[in-house]
Amino acid sequence: MKNILIVLVLISTIFFFCATSQQINFYNYANQEIPNYINRDNTPANNQMNDTIANLGRVLFYDKNLSINNTISCASCHKQAFAFGDQSVLSQGVSKELTGRHVMRLVNIRFAQAVTLFWDERAATLEDQTTEPIKDHIEMGFSGINGAPTFEDLINKLECIDYYRTLFSVAFGDYQITESRIQLALAQFIRSIQSFDSKYDVGRAQVTNDEMPFPNFTEQENEGKRLFMMPKDKNGANCQPCHRAPIFDIDPGTSNNGIIGVAGDPKAVDLMNTRSPSLRDLVNPNGTLNGPLMHDGSLTSLAAVIDHYNQIPLDPRNSTRLNSRLRTSDLKSGQNLQLTQAEKDALIAFLKTLTGAAIYTDARWSSPFDRNGELIFNK
Ligand code: HEC
Ligand code: HEC
Repeated sequence: MKNILIVLVLISTIFFFCATSQQINFYNYANQEIPNYINRDNTPANNQMNDTIANLGRVLFYDKNLSINNTISCASCHKQAFAFGDQSVLSQGVSKELTGRHVMRLVNIRFAQAVTLFWDERAATLEDQTTEPIKDHIEMGFSGINGAPTFEDLINKLECIDYYRTLFSVAFGDYQITESRIQLALAQFIRSIQSFDSKYDVGRAQVTNDEMPFPNFTEQENEGKRLFMMPKDKNGANCQPCHRAPIFDIDPGTSNNGIIGVAGDPKAVDLMNTRSPSLRDLVNPNGTLNGPLMHDGSLTSLAAVIDHYNQIPLDPRNSTRLNSRLRTSDLKSGQNLQLTQAEKDALIAFLKTLTGAAIYTDARWSSPFDRNGELIFNK
């Protein structure tokens, strides 16, 4: 009787694999529309976008099995509703301990000029970055520290989960699970997250360069754009050299911007933060901030951001690290832009035009698990 049962289970499992692999309809990750003014793509030659691999990345991104106690997935901290960021200053990991820095939104990473990841750029590539949170003792816990499970234990765990046999086979031709394959898949999913349906994009498509006034902008938004782009000696706020349009990410060569705090530790300083997420989708379509800003989450409004850049105090502990672009011309003090209230408001109005819509709701970036934690094969 027992043997018959085992045989039955085996047959139905095999049938399940065959059935599901034929039924999966993949979302389009690899051939999404990209506006013609986007002229950069940091996809590496050895990890070209592929719908089946990005789809595996989506499942891994949302799967709590990637944490030691099945409580945390990447999406626990990187939430689609907040452009893959979060509204709390610091995020809780597996043991309820908090991360050291504020979470970063994941927007248009594929098109960024800077390819090193994290606020302090400690990950050389996105592929390298993706398994760091899994091995982080606080975040997902497969650290091997003090007897904690190792990454090898995670691979053994995933090998026992049915749907990964199917998904790895479909993506890579066989069901072998390796760290490298996990990295390729997670990186593809993250590179697939794009946001090009903002008011800025509608305007940018109608002109030949960023300096021209956009026909769909209000006068205030065009003035904010001008301030953002123009250097200080042309009465601008000089944001463009570091957060260059059209992706608004970060100039790879910059040092810090004068935000040197450590969340939860008022006496400490952290001078190493030189990367910023794209300034796209700082606010959601309703105008609400997607989370506090900067690595320490210390700025809680766009007005606070503009006030910071308007007048940057040069902390003596930061005397060598504050970027020269943010200093007076003799480099001895932090800059004082002397922006009027109208100019500050215009900059804020412009930053709000960088918000898209699809990124918050598009099913291809949403959870593939239903409320009971069951994997729903797409569509
Ligand atoms: C416990 C919360 C938490 C979890 C879980 C988590 N992250 Fe993060 N993530 C963060 C924080 C915090 C940062 C910024 C950390 C820093 O710079 O020191 C970050 C940064 C990143 C970045 C860098 C973005 C950039 O522009 O430089 C990427 C990419 C990323 N995470 C992907 C992932 C992936 C993939 C997973 C799942 C395997 C994951 N994260 C799980 C909190 C989390
Ligand atoms: C010298 C380069 C530089 C210049 C110029 C600059 N920034 Fe930044 N910006 C940064 C860096 C670096 C960060 C990340 C800092 C951190 O968290 O420690 C950042 C972060 C930000 C953030 C927060 C992003 C987030 O997701 O939390 C906003 C908003 C921002 N900058 C807006 C502006 C505006 C507006 C201007 C012009 C008034 C400007 N920046 C000028 C380098 C610069």
